[in-house]
Amino acid sequence: MAEHPAYPVGLRLTGRRVVVLGGGQVAQRRLPALIAAGADVLLVSPEVTPSVEAMADAGEITWHKRPYEEGDLADAWYALIATGDTEANTRASAEAERRRVWCVRSDDADEATAWTPATGHSEGVTVAVLTTDARGRDPRHTAAIRDAVVEGLRDGTLVAPHHRTRTPGVALVGGGPGDPDLITVRGRRLLAEADVVITDHLGPRDLLAELPPNVEVIDAAKLPYGRFMAQEAINNALIEYAKQGKSVVRLKGGDPYVYGRGMEEFQALAEAGVPCTVVPGISSSISVPGAAGIPVTHRGVAHEFTVVSGHIAPDDERSLVDWPSLAKLTGTLVILMGVATIGKVAETLIAHGKAPDTPVALVQEGTTAGQRRVDATLATVGETVKTEDVKPPAVIVIGEVVKVGPTVTAPRE
Ligand SMILES: C[S@@+](CC[C@H](N)C(=O)[O-])C[C@H]1O[C@@H](n2cnc3c(N)ncnc32)[C@H](O)[C@@H]1O
Repeated sequence: MAEHPAYPVGLRLTGRRVVVLGGGQVAQRRLPALIAAGADVLLVSPEVTPSVEAMADAGEITWHKRPYEEGDLADAWYALIATGDTEANTRASAEAERRRVWCVRSDDADEATAWTPATGHSEGVTVAVLTTDARGRDPRHTAAIRDAVVEGLRDGTLVAPHHRTRTPGVALVGGGPGDPDLITVRGRRLLAEADVVITDHLGPRDLLAELPPNVEVIDAAKLPYGRFMAQEAINNALIEYAKQGKSVVRLKGGDPYVYGRGMEEFQALAEAGVPCTVVPGISSSISVPGAAGIPVTHRGVAHEFTVVSGHIAPDDERSLVDWPSLAKLTGTLVILMGVATIGKVAETLIAHGKAPDTPVALVQEGTTAGQRRVDATLATVGETVKTEDVKPPAVIVIGEVVKVGPTVTAPRE
């Protein structure tokens, strides 16, 4: 006789007793979801893993330190039977059957009255995958289907538009330093759902090629700005497209709030009454040094790192940077937008006490195929930047951390 398929259902376990027998790896994997579901978990086991013990110590579950006894399932709505003792598991599942408690058995799916699906979550949705019948059970296959669906929803390769919750507006998305894999999953999903994308030339440009042909991609640098300043033209474009009811992504390099004018755009949108969400990104200030083998902090070497904009030279009266104080810090200095001014910056730091032989690294086009690292010292960097023809975008790292790791000069694979 053909076996009937399992009937999928979502259990609402808040405040309801769930009994878990056995405190090993199976329990450890299943408990977080039961706790998250608000279940009143009673765990019965003479021994547990350190992680399960931590859950008991934190009061997330109740642990009875002993083997299973008849009657343990008396108040249960649901049971997970996962001890290493098959005989105890058989007795417990017989008790579950008698009490009409749905029960999962880790050692014998045929004897179980319930199966745990492979589950994953994405944006308020739980994806649960079950095999149709016991004979066809292939947990790796169901997990692979779950992963494919959840990953696809997260990174936008599987597009499931939100019909009820999708609201027109603007998302300021930090795209990371350039490698398309270094955008956040939320950023990538919003990008996949966008009608209009307004970009800069920094960030993950490769991702734009993947967008469907109906998505309008606008280079912010090319917006006509007539009587407006460039930034105002961008703000106005964001507002106008959003007011047409479109989903707009403003894609920025790194993080929107690190020298990214993110708050200016956020405020302009708020003033215009346009809903705006901000998605953080991996800033080049940390990731680009890292990609070149430089940790911005390292135990025993640097306990702080300071990120500074070098776009205005130290002797320029518009500069807001206290270079003499920076010269006195012992940690790492990370300079963005500093290729043109690094000679003057180095002179200023040396003049205020920084050692001339302090190591310096310039990392150009970090995390992209064009990544390049050039090393120097404070005394030589002004000259090196010219002889090596270092070009923006580059992150400049000043400090002993430059010498801590292997020098990664080649671009990523
Ligand atoms: C206007 S700032 C924007 C920073 C960005 N919001 C962030 O968090 O990384 C631009 C500067 O970031 C640095 N930068 C951004 N991406 C880079 C990359 N892939 N390689 C090297 N430097 C980069 C350079 O110093 C560049 O001049």
